[in-house]
Amino acid sequence: MRLDEIDNDCWTALENGAKEPECGFHFLTVASVDQQGKPQARTMVLRDVDRVNRTLEIHTDMRSPKWRALGVNQDVTVLGYCNKIQLRLQGTAELHAAHSEVAANAWQRLSPRTQQTYAGGAPGSDTAISSGDKGDPENNFGVMLIRISLLDWCQLARENNQRALLHYRADGAFIGGKEVNP
Ligand SMILES: Cc1cc2nc3c(=O)[nH]c(=O)nc-3n(C[C@H](O)[C@H](O)[C@H](O)COP(=O)(O)O)c2cc1C
Repeated sequence: MRLDEIDNDCWTALENGAKEPECGFHFLTVASVDQQGKPQARTMVLRDVDRVNRTLEIHTDMRSPKWRALGVNQDVTVLGYCNKIQLRLQGTAELHAAHSEVAANAWQRLSPRTQQTYAGGAPGSDTAISSGDKGDPENNFGVMLIRISLLDWCQLARENNQRALLHYRADGAFIGGKEVNP
């Protein structure tokens, strides 16, 4: 496959992932480095994709350890697997705090039920100590926009495993890549 076709197919698959809960790319593994320098990974829901700017939108609770860690080190790797295709995406996380323009827009699009998930105790806090705070749940709601700079595509096929690395400029432009051995 040509590199521009791989590029196009990958971003279409990610768009489908954001729309379809049954699609493998709906739940992504997001890896970051914590404040002790240790790798951390967790499952997160892909909420939206901007294929022009090469960003992935992910929602989180600003009280979570990952939010604090990403404030110090923005580097992330996002891993997804769907229909024999692995995508390993390197990028940086742009944090949009509660009530910022990006977060306020995303908040409005959430169902009341999802909004309520931000009303509980802080992620990782002891359930015996904190069962939830009584404040406005929107105060806890943050948006991560992950800007992808490198896409590592790996497709398994019985006799033709394939892999390619695609690079993007900061403005999202595809600046080329190469096929590599899987
Ligand atoms: C299926 C599934 C989807 C999840 N989606 C999200 C998500 O979209 N955002 C989020 O912050 N945490 C999500 N979580 C919880 C995280 O995996 C993680 O446990 C939590 O955010 C705390 O992570 P941290 O300690 O690294 O900050 C999800 C967990 C599961 C099992």
